[in-house]
Amino acid sequence: MASVKQVSEVSAVEIRPMHELDVPVVVAIERSSYQFPWSEGIFRDCLRVGYICRVIEAGSDIAGYAIMSIGAGEAHVLNVCVREEHRGRGLARKVLLYLIDRARSAGMYEAFLEVRPSNVAAARLYHSLGFEQVGVRRGYYQAANGREDASVLRRMLAVEKK
Ligand SMILES: CC(C)(COP(=O)(O)OP(=O)(O)OC[C@H]1O[C@@H](n2cnc3c(N)ncnc32)[C@H](O)[C@@H]1OP(=O)(O)O)[C@@H](O)C(=O)NCCC(=O)NCCS
Repeated sequence: MASVKQVSEVSAVEIRPMHELDVPVVVAIERSSYQFPWSEGIFRDCLRVGYICRVIEAGSDIAGYAIMSIGAGEAHVLNVCVREEHRGRGLARKVLLYLIDRARSAGMYEAFLEVRPSNVAAARLYHSLGFEQVGVRRGYYQAANGREDASVLRRMLAVEKK
């Protein structure tokens, strides 16, 4: 029975464009999810420059969001975040599959993202979707005791790069 409930919960979810009016809620989720959150200005800049900014709507709730840039054959997933009480229901997987599809439709060949090696949940999520480590950015992230490296992950989107 539990799996039936989970499927209906996920199917009741909508992925829609993020609007300026959503930013305060998005920032609140960001602040409650990350030790070093993005500022409100960063979200507004992402909207202004036309990045693919989406919110995950579950009922009347914004359950999470995702942001991706595309260009020059590459997609870059810049942020994926699900509000704590909505985690473990497949929402991050759903929004990432949506972004992968968008990137592929836009003609991108590969998708990249960075993740903290200490972020086990996110790393497992990305690997389960076919992302593989292709590099390390030394000291990329702020951390409680200085800096933390970023693993750079890539997923191919098209059969062949021309
Ligand atoms: C990482 C995050 C986005 C996952 O969101 P979510 O909606 O709970 O993830 P999903 O339910 O779609 O899970 C998909 C897969 O991710 C992995 N995963 C998710 N949560 C996990 C956890 N707590 N521990 C281990 N693996 C986990 C699993 O592989 C899972 O697949 P499974 O359910 O078949 O085992 C969420 O925990 C979050 O918002 N964290 C804070 C922000 C953040 O770290 N974002 C990523 C920055 S790189």
